[in-house]
Amino acid sequence: MIIGRDLTRIYGMGAVKVRALNGVSVKIQKGDFVGIMGPSGSGKSTLLHMFGLLDRPTSGTILIDGVDAGTLDERARTQFRLRRLGYVFQDYALVPELTAKENVYLPSMARGMTAQECTLACSEILTLFGLGNRIHHLPGEMSGGEQQRVAIARALVNRPTLLLADEPCANLDSQNSKIILDLFQRLNRDLHQTIVMVSHEEWHKKYFDRIISMKDGVIEEEVNRSEGGELTPSP
Ligand SMILES: Nc1ncnc2c1ncn2[C@@H]1O[C@H](COP(=O)(O)OP(=O)(O)OP(=O)(O)O)[C@@H](O)[C@H]1O
Ligand SMILES: [Mg+2]
Repeated sequence: MIIGRDLTRIYGMGAVKVRALNGVSVKIQKGDFVGIMGPSGSGKSTLLHMFGLLDRPTSGTILIDGVDAGTLDERARTQFRLRRLGYVFQDYALVPELTAKENVYLPSMARGMTAQECTLACSEILTLFGLGNRIHHLPGEMSGGEQQRVAIARALVNRPTLLLADEPCANLDSQNSKIILDLFQRLNRDLHQTIVMVSHEEWHKKYFDRIISMKDGVIEEEVNRSEGGELTPSP
């Protein structure tokens, strides 16, 4: 479903250049639950931005269902993001002036759902995430973990075909992290939801079917879960 070929992303075209991605080739299949791991600054968020068509590579190609994303105009890229993508940003990217419910409302409204459908979907998903009593709170009136859960709810409200989540548990305690990861696992197993998730936590590994380890802008290692459940390096 997504194929990245020889992707590079160089930031700062002046004197100081940062090679955030330095030749990454990767394939994400429908129904995958992939973890992207690696040290800070290794290019994980940059790669996730590429998958979400939030950024363009300096060189290399991204194919989405066989279509070269580089040939799509901004309108087509926006349509892809609206219709097919759920994205949890590392810094949440909630709109500070809008309540939890209104933040979740945005993508469903943009998709043309009726006000009644939006209200119902938003209340349902916020309650599912234990935020039933926070729906009228502004982001500034919520804890980091609560804001993070609003951001996850917003990413899932449209039932995206592709969920990209950048450290979605970074501000959650282990109990709430487990709730989110168990939910992701259920979505993946029962509805074949494709998920690509960035994580720093060793214990998250048991949820992933495949782990891409990044270092200095390249894939250092890729491991797959075998039938028996163990993680083994890809050839
Ligand atoms: N907008 C930008 N301008 C210049 N350099 C950038 C920019 N965004 C990221 N970088 C650099 O690119 C490299 C990769 O950044 P990226 O955010 O992808 O790392 P990461 O693996 O997600 O790290 P973390 O675990 O800290 O979130 C880093 O060295 C970072 O400083
Ligand atoms: Mg990051």
